[in-house]
Amino acid sequence: MAEVRYADMKHKVALVTGAASGIGEACARQFAAQDCRVVMVDRNAERLQALLGELSRSGKTACTVVGDVTEEATSVAGVDRCQSAYGRIDYAVNCAGVVGASASIDQTQLEEWERVLAINLTGVFLGLKHQLKAMIPAGRGSIVNISSGAGLVGIPYLCPYSASKHAVLALTKTAAMEVAPKGLRVNAVLPGSTRTPMVEEAISQGPELERQILGSLPTGRLATADEIAAAVLWLCSEQSSYVNGHSLVADGAFLCR
Ligand SMILES: NC(=O)c1ccc[n+]([C@@H]2O[C@H](COP(=O)([O-])OP(=O)(O)OC[C@H]3O[C@@H](n4cnc5c(N)ncnc54)[C@H](O)[C@@H]3O)[C@@H](O)[C@H]2O)c1
Repeated sequence: MAEVRYADMKHKVALVTGAASGIGEACARQFAAQDCRVVMVDRNAERLQALLGELSRSGKTACTVVGDVTEEATSVAGVDRCQSAYGRIDYAVNCAGVVGASASIDQTQLEEWERVLAINLTGVFLGLKHQLKAMIPAGRGSIVNISSGAGLVGIPYLCPYSASKHAVLALTKTAAMEVAPKGLRVNAVLPGSTRTPMVEEAISQGPELERQILGSLPTGRLATADEIAAAVLWLCSEQSSYVNGHSLVADGAFLCR
């Protein structure tokens, strides 16, 4: 992919949750490539550390917060680290998420429902809450929540996932309406099937499943994490200054049927 330079991003501060893998990792790398200072949040300490080492060796400025996004202390720590290490927070990407176990609604365990909602929805709420608390007094900031194509249509056998991703759009729109008068923006990106460890795990179950998935995609291929991160960075940048409360679908026309 050709590299885009956003002049307004240089030396700004970006917080990314779910930064240790997949789409979140691609966002962290792309912010770093724009010479942003990056605070990377994830519960996977080992992968965060490896990414931090790599970015630091290439002269980028970043730090990590290890924590679970379902705990309010993690959201507080992420924002505090932006302020204490770099004195500001300009962008936030709420990306940490899980698919959850596949089951019909009548077979879905309450514990699994609550686990997926806690990560995919409460995690985004807690992130937004503390990111906005810091951004509102500054009168600037752009936040992107990662929903999914599953936020627009029902996905049989993944009811907590689909419900959580629909609800992320409701949160995004509500937040955008609340903070637009204060000069802030909150948008959502809805990726289609993207080649990340989350999807690799599913398709590694057999070549037939992979053929089926690819066959259902108008492009005949999965998105790359970088293609999704590119949409996220555009929404954070000044190039999208009048885009607010928007649900940006990046799915290679999958939902156009
Ligand atoms: N890959 C896809 O096809 C696809 C499609 C649509 C939406 N999405 C969404 O994109 C986001 C990223 O997915 P991905 O494919 O990059 O997945 P991934 O599994 O590669 O990465 C997810 C990251 O989130 C972290 N994480 C999970 N639960 C956490 C928690 N409770 N606290 C802190 N960190 C946690 C994981 O450790 C991991 O590093 C998710 O919200 C997912 O729902 C992915």
